[in-house]
Parts: sequence; C-alpha cells; structure tokens
Amino acid sequence: MTREEEAMLGGEEGPAAAKLLELLVALGEVFGAERLVPVESAHISGVSYKNLGEAGLGWLVEQADLGARARIRATLNPAGMDMEFWREMGVPEEFAEGQRRVLAAFERMGVEPTCTCTPYLAGHVPGFGSQIAWAESSAVCFSNSVIGARTNRESGPTTIASAVTGLAALYGFRLDENRRPGAVVEVEADLDTVMAYSALGYVTGKRLGTTVPYFKGLGSPSLEAKKALGAACATSGGIALWHGEGVTPEAEAMKGHLAGLERLTVTAGDVEEAVARFTGPLDDPIIALGCPHSSLEELGEIAGLVGGRNFGGRLWVFTSRSVYSRAEEAGHVGAIRAAGGRVFRDTCMVVAPLKEMGWTEVATNSFKAGHYMTSMGMRTRMGTIRELLGARQ
Ligand code: F3S
Repeated sequence: MTREEEAMLGGEEGPAAAKLLELLVALGEVFGAERLVPVESAHISGVSYKNLGEAGLGWLVEQADLGARARIRATLNPAGMDMEFWREMGVPEEFAEGQRRVLAAFERMGVEPTCTCTPYLAGHVPGFGSQIAWAESSAVCFSNSVIGARTNRESGPTTIASAVTGLAALYGFRLDENRRPGAVVEVEADLDTVMAYSALGYVTGKRLGTTVPYFKGLGSPSLEAKKALGAACATSGGIALWHGEGVTPEAEAMKGHLAGLERLTVTAGDVEEAVARFTGPLDDPIIALGCPHSSLEELGEIAGLVGGRNFGGRLWVFTSRSVYSRAEEAGHVGAIRAAGGRVFRDTCMVVAPLKEMGWTEVATNSFKAGHYMTSMGMRTRMGTIRELLGARQ
C-alpha cells in the first residue's frame, strides 16, 4: 500500500473512508490482488428501495452520517420509481417515502442522481483503457466491451467504497490476461433487430456462463443492439466482457488468442427457441420497453410507430432523465403520450414494485427484462418493437 492509502486506512480521511477501504482491501485479499489501483469513476447499483429495504437504507444513511463523500465522478443506477411521476406509476406512498430517503442519502454523499443503467448515454463515458468501478451488469458489459474501460462486476457497497476512496483492488478484468476470450461464438442467426441481438446474448450467456466470448459474424450492430446484447449475456450467464470481430475496440488485439478455444454456433433455431421460452398466450399485457434504458433513437423510433393509435396506458417506456429531456424537446415524449403511452424516468420494469402496481403480464423486446419478470412470476411475451406496437414489418 502507498503511504496515502495507509493513512486513509488509519482514519486520516475520516471513519467512512477507513471502513470502506477496509472492504476493498479484504476483497483484494480474497481475489489475490497485488495492490490497489486508482479508479476514474464509479457507477453505483442497489438504488431501488424494493431491493434495499430499511436495512439497506439504514446502511446508506450511516455511511453518509460518517462522512462518506465521493471523490471521483459517481452516478446512480435506476431507483424503484420515477422520482416525479411515481403516483402515475401506481407506486404506494410508503415505498415512495423510502425511495426519497435513499436518494437523499446518495446526494449527501455527492453522488449524481442520474438513476439510469445507461450512464454512458447520460454523459458519463469513461476513456478507453481507464480503470473504473461500475456495478449493474449491463453497464459493466457495455463499458468493458464497447468502450474498452476496465471494471469487474462490482456491487453496491464496493462501488460506494471506490467512489469514496477513489480506489479498487487490482484483479479480474482490470488485468490484460483476464480480458482474453475463452470461447469463439460463430453467429449464423439473422441479426436484423435489436431483439435478435438480445436473444443472441441470452443464448450465449446460457451456454458460456462467465467465459469471455469472441463473436464472429455480428454484422454492424447499432449502439442499441450492443447494449441489448451485453445486458442479455450478463443476465443468463455472468458475462462481464465480450469481444466482437470488427465491432469492439479490443477485438483486433485478441485475434492472436483464438487458437484452440472452444467454438460454438448460434443459429436462427437457437434464437427462435429463446423467443419461445419467454412467449406464452397473454390476455392484455403491458408493453414494456427500455431495458436497458431507451436511447433517444429508440424513443424516436417508438414515437414514429405509435401515431394514430391508442394504447390506453398499456405502453410503458423507460429511460433516463437525461435522455428524457432531449426526447421531450424532440417531441418524442409528447407523441408517445398522445398515443396513450407513458414514458417514465429513473426506474424500470424490473426494479419498480410491479406486484404492488398490479402487473401480471408483460410484453417486451428485452431478454433481460423477460428473464427477471418470469422469475417474479409474471407471464411474458417477446417481440420486436414493431411487433409489440402492432406496426407493419
Ligand atoms: Fe436497466 Fe432495469 Fe434493464 S436496470 S438493464 S432497465 S432491468
């Protein structure tokens, strides 16, 4: 440890920093880290009151009371509700009160209340090769793979610890040798929609677990396709990093490490099977889009498809407050509202208290959402945005 790190551990930077550094040191010992490394930014998960409850909230308030303050840029994952329009979502008053206290604790720590799983669409874009401490599996996958920054799959407490100390233990995906692929995935399926990329991610994660895939045949995925692919493979497996030939920044350098790796193929049949797995007969589902949070382009696409229709409040679109402002200016939010749809910020269809809100059936284009909603006992259907909105193909 450096002299500064020793001093922080000894309490010179306050009790919160000392305790949180202890946590990072213990983690480093478990994973055999040789040292700590400075990190540029943190993205913190564990924000929804649904997951935290009173115990989690109490821990956050304790950290803020002890003087925990972010010394690097730190942003927040989605909360359990739109912080302004929570009544419109049907969120109970008691839940809203708990959620407000969570946000207040984070704000006291100097964390930006971005409330999104796509911080990279809200101006928080780390540099290539930079060390960061991010939680939220889809954001981790995007930052490691598409941006080429370096993070492990962090947790709420470890990201808070990194935000406050500016440090992380040097192990895992922070090191060159662990960023090499462990399997080659040949894609034979047609990748003509964002949902197809999400399905590919789901199938890959199921087969590979946590192994780093090197994709061949990915085509030219849009940003939206890349975020969908990473979110799904982080959900069905524990993938934190993927490489795509001609697509991701580290792929070219990985070509020399492909010989002798396990090879697997993902076909159109595999994609169809994955869609069928989350598709059952539904009576009157809520169409839920925006997992990961919608980009401005996705909101524009949805707005362009809903004209002249009335969804009667059964179309819900989730995004960040940052993208929402731009979408409102562009007229997309108004167009979706005019068609009886709703656009919410700060939250999503997985971390909101859906049962209390009365949801039982959901149609979505996201395999991550489908996976979690099925595990919460909901009936689901998968479809592309066009299919779900009943637009012509
Ligand atoms: Fe984001 Fe919620 Fe999906 S956090 S990735 S929209 S489950």
